[in-house]
Amino acid sequence: MSVTTVVGIQWGDEGKGRIVDYLASQAEMVIRFQGGDNAGHTVINDLGKFGLHIIPSGVFNSETMNIVGAGTVVNFDTMASEIDHIQSVSGRSVDNVFIDRRAHLIMPYHQLLDGAEEGKRSDDQKIGTTKRGIGPCYSDKASRVGLRAGDILDEDWLRKRLELLLPKKNRDLEYYGLRTFTVDELVAKCAAWRERFGSYIIDSQPVVREAVENGRNILLEGQLGIMRDNDWGIYPYSTSSNPTTAGACNGAGIPPRAIDKVVGVIKAYSTSVGGGPYMTELFDEDGEKLRTIGGEFGVTTGRPRRCGWLDLVAADYACYMNGVSDLALTKLDVLDSFEKIRVCTGYMIDGEYYNHLPDTLYQERAKPIYEDFEGWMCDTSKCRRWEELPAKAQSYILEIEKRLGVHITYISVGPERDQLIVR
Ligand code: GDP
Ligand code: IMO
Ligand code: MG
Repeated sequence: MSVTTVVGIQWGDEGKGRIVDYLASQAEMVIRFQGGDNAGHTVINDLGKFGLHIIPSGVFNSETMNIVGAGTVVNFDTMASEIDHIQSVSGRSVDNVFIDRRAHLIMPYHQLLDGAEEGKRSDDQKIGTTKRGIGPCYSDKASRVGLRAGDILDEDWLRKRLELLLPKKNRDLEYYGLRTFTVDELVAKCAAWRERFGSYIIDSQPVVREAVENGRNILLEGQLGIMRDNDWGIYPYSTSSNPTTAGACNGAGIPPRAIDKVVGVIKAYSTSVGGGPYMTELFDEDGEKLRTIGGEFGVTTGRPRRCGWLDLVAADYACYMNGVSDLALTKLDVLDSFEKIRVCTGYMIDGEYYNHLPDTLYQERAKPIYEDFEGWMCDTSKCRRWEELPAKAQSYILEIEKRLGVHITYISVGPERDQLIVR
């Protein structure tokens, strides 16, 4: 296996957690490389059902070292409740999760500002953030006024950093009529975090390098999908980091040439949560049916997900940009009762035909062009081998494979760990 990256190649919620959980059973190390607790990765295995936010999906294998990587943003309060929850449901103690000292801290003011900034946006400009403080935290990182996990290990340094940055933060909070913070109060909060997590904050670079150089099985877990990438997604309706293979190298500290395999996770249809263009969105009964059968409600916010058909133009862009070597097609079973299944193969924008993905403002005006497939109209959830899939489902999969030019190695037919066909 050596170094494998798992990336979302749509708008998020493709089933990354489910695929990482499966692959992690053979991994010695799992690294979450970007994002924060805006993630909602569902894992169902023999220990129970879990909605993971910041904890890497390899946590269930006690032998696997899980690292919350340098490229992430961490809220230690939500991390504590998440670990408590995993421990109480699984009945196992969690002591295999480490945090790189370079990971940025989501502070209470980041969450408050996220909510306030979103509140000020007009309806047509709303990003629909998860209000977890992700944008404000990454902004501070880029402005070099962020706090990092390692900073809480040195109280004098932490205090100096807070004295530098807090006056401006408080002015921002006052502007929105929000509560302000004192240095002492935040130093005390960080001391409580140090008490609980101090011994798990590490410099992961030498550890990861040693693992790479010794050919160990390492899995890099992405959050969200490229369509909400800060550079290559639907900016400004994006997240504030890069959930791509390039982002994985940076956020996990892995040289690009060390990556052996890139698994792109793709739903057999599509969904999106939050604002921004989404060209194949359905507003009819098919959309409602996808939402109901697919259980398409956010893990982190509970919001109903926008649902639509598979967009092969966007998927092709995503495969190229991520250098995807293998696809994991999830939720095939959700299409079991559709008589007609559509895929988007191009767009019309301002009277012109497009077979490539344009930037955000053009996407807003895009009208999808569809090709239709006959549905297979039978249950696939019990299939475990390629030969057991109905012929029409095989054709659907082979056509996607042909058009994207990437082998579909994994086909998921249910949320549970064993509901998977490996080709
Ligand atoms: P992630 O954020 O990419 O990890 O995906 P989410 O966990 O947010 O959303 C995927 C949802 O689909 C979860 O509720 C999973 O339990 C569920 N799921 C994953 N794979 C399958 C599948 O093959 N079939 C069905 N029916 N559900 C699936
Ligand atoms: P997983 O990891 C789906 C969306 C939000 C919003 C935009 C920016 O489960 O795939 P943010 O809080 O990051 O500033 O929000 O991105 N978003 C997600 N959508 N799945 C997620 O995570 C998401 N994380 C953020 O809805 O539009
Ligand atoms: Mg999710």
